[in-house]
Amino acid sequence: MRFLTLVSLTSVAYAQNIIPTSCFDSYSSLEQHFNYLYPWGSDHNGAARMVASSSNHEFVSVNSGTLTIVAKPRGGQPWTSRGQPIRYLSGAIHSKRTLTVERGSGFDIEGEFQATTDRGTWPAFWLNGAWTWPPEIDMAEWKGSGDITFNVFNTSTSLMNHDTRYPSPQNFHRMRTEIRTENDRDIRVKYFMDGIEVTTQYGRDYVGKPLHLIINLQMEGSSGSPGPNTDTYYRVRNLSVNRV
Ligand SMILES: *[C@@H]1O[C@H](CO)[C@@H](O)[C@H](O)[C@H]1NC(C)=O
Ligand SMILES: *[C@@H]1O[C@H](CO)[C@@H](O)[C@H](O)[C@H]1NC(C)=O
Repeated sequence: MRFLTLVSLTSVAYAQNIIPTSCFDSYSSLEQHFNYLYPWGSDHNGAARMVASSSNHEFVSVNSGTLTIVAKPRGGQPWTSRGQPIRYLSGAIHSKRTLTVERGSGFDIEGEFQATTDRGTWPAFWLNGAWTWPPEIDMAEWKGSGDITFNVFNTSTSLMNHDTRYPSPQNFHRMRTEIRTENDRDIRVKYFMDGIEVTTQYGRDYVGKPLHLIINLQMEGSSGSPGPNTDTYYRVRNLSVNRV
């Protein structure tokens, strides 16, 4: 009995909570764990420009443990520096702390998501290399087709893309990603949707590379066009990140 107690204390000491499920309980909790926008700014690979939170929290808001991101059609926006037209304003957040998979360790990352699969809407929940690209681990993304997509990139063109039908998008679904080292350099990523294992993928040379966790609602781009002329909502709750 005494021995068992010590064992469980040891495992508690090793598992370390990085982001708690209370992170969307208030703006102070949100802003303790996340910054607004992408790590590199407001624009990326679609027709939505991310807006930093304003005093009225128009695009990124939290309420009773749920994060809500809204994308709104908005004309008259300048194009991105890469010549991408902007037709929406939306929101993104990224973790203040980066996550680095060290030898013999890993992360359990999970949350509940209410995400649209309509054409032209591209909600995403992903990890992106803070220093280089790849790494990229798409823990869940919905690219306007009715499917959910899971990806780990080895190079910009070598990835084990896994698409599967996404049921009842109006409901919340639980996603869980278990990231572990496979050897001294590579990682293994196991994906679960609503408690069911979906796919296992591998990332080459991911060990020791810091990753940002990003939650954003992009529009059009890879999710097709035209996107909706009405507001699009993306919600996340019960998010947690634990180092194991
Ligand atoms: C998930 O979030 C909902 C709403 O905030 C809450 O009622 C529920 O208890 C949470 N579930 C877990 C497993 O934390
Ligand atoms: C990615 O790299 C891992 C580790 O080297 C390897 O096991 C896996 O097959 C690679 N996947 C692809 C799609 O290249």
